[in-house]
Amino acid sequence: MALPPFEIHRVNQEDADDVETLGTKPKFWWFNSVGKRLLFKADDRGTGEDWAEKIACHLCELLGIPHVDYELAQEYEQSVAKRHGVICENISPAPLSLVLGNQLLFERDESYPLDSRAKYKVRQHTVAAIVEVLRSVKPPPGWQADGAIQSALDVFIGYVMLDAWIANQDRHHGNWGAIRDVAGDLFLSPTFDHGAALARLLTDDERSERISTRDKNRTVENYVTRAKSACYADVSSEKPMGTLDCFTAFAAYSTEAAKVWMDRLRNADRGCVCEIVDRVPATRMSPLAKQFTLKLLQANQQRILRGV
Ligand SMILES: Nc1ncnc2c1ncn2[C@@H]1O[C@H](COP(=O)(O)OP(=O)(O)OP(=O)(O)O)[C@@H](O)[C@H]1O
Ligand SMILES: [Mg+2]
Repeated sequence: MALPPFEIHRVNQEDADDVETLGTKPKFWWFNSVGKRLLFKADDRGTGEDWAEKIACHLCELLGIPHVDYELAQEYEQSVAKRHGVICENISPAPLSLVLGNQLLFERDESYPLDSRAKYKVRQHTVAAIVEVLRSVKPPPGWQADGAIQSALDVFIGYVMLDAWIANQDRHHGNWGAIRDVAGDLFLSPTFDHGAALARLLTDDERSERISTRDKNRTVENYVTRAKSACYADVSSEKPMGTLDCFTAFAAYSTEAAKVWMDRLRNADRGCVCEIVDRVPATRMSPLAKQFTLKLLQANQQRILRGV
């Protein structure tokens, strides 16, 4: 029997007690009715970031990738419906703290451009530098070592494979990090912020055209090859790597872990993927957006499984 559509949770703007200043989207923190601290992240431009985030989070679940759990939400101001968005729990409640990638890279090398305003086109955000940082980070809290996936780097390889699958171009140095405990130990953060993935900015007209075209240059299979990561192969590289090249580069540091992630992707049940996409309420995602998303995921899955 088909599962029901994902619930859209109600968030009251007047409950907000703190604004989250990090990141570009408007966000606020509040305590829900059972005293849990939650973050509301608004999709203020109405460009589908809520459904992209929700789908990505369930795909993480399917692959066994540690991730922030997102729920669809809508903000209300004095009972008037306002912005859509997502809500999630705090992954680093005090006394824990979240240390973002740029800070970790700066702690490794003080010449790293820490300035959080520069998120893209940071050539120092290289695969080698990230790998080096991850060597002194433990796997995510609660992570159960699974065969070849032992270290933080092994787990992170799953994050970059996810990026290649969902066409996430947003893994900049503020979209990964580590949780620091009171003893100063660092644990890889669960993956977060996938709202820019799944080509959610495309219009339905373009989706329709790309789905039905006979022009090879306009197909979904061709379109997905254009996805860029926010990582560089080298500080002297002119351009960031493609998302698949990025996965290949990380995979080279731990081929056994990469194989396990790829096996999981190979075994990701198509029916489950369709069901996840299908559960997004029709009010949030058009039939064409769903059809295109499934094609994109299928095309990238094939590319990844062929590519390494
Ligand atoms: N679940 C969480 N627990 C703790 N802190 C969080 C959580 N989610 C987000 N944050 C904090 O808020 C910041 C911004 O969140 P996020 O990256 O999801 O938003 P964004 O505005 O989409 O970012 P970007 O500018 O990359 O698009 C994070 O870097 C982190 O510091
Ligand atoms: Mg972010």
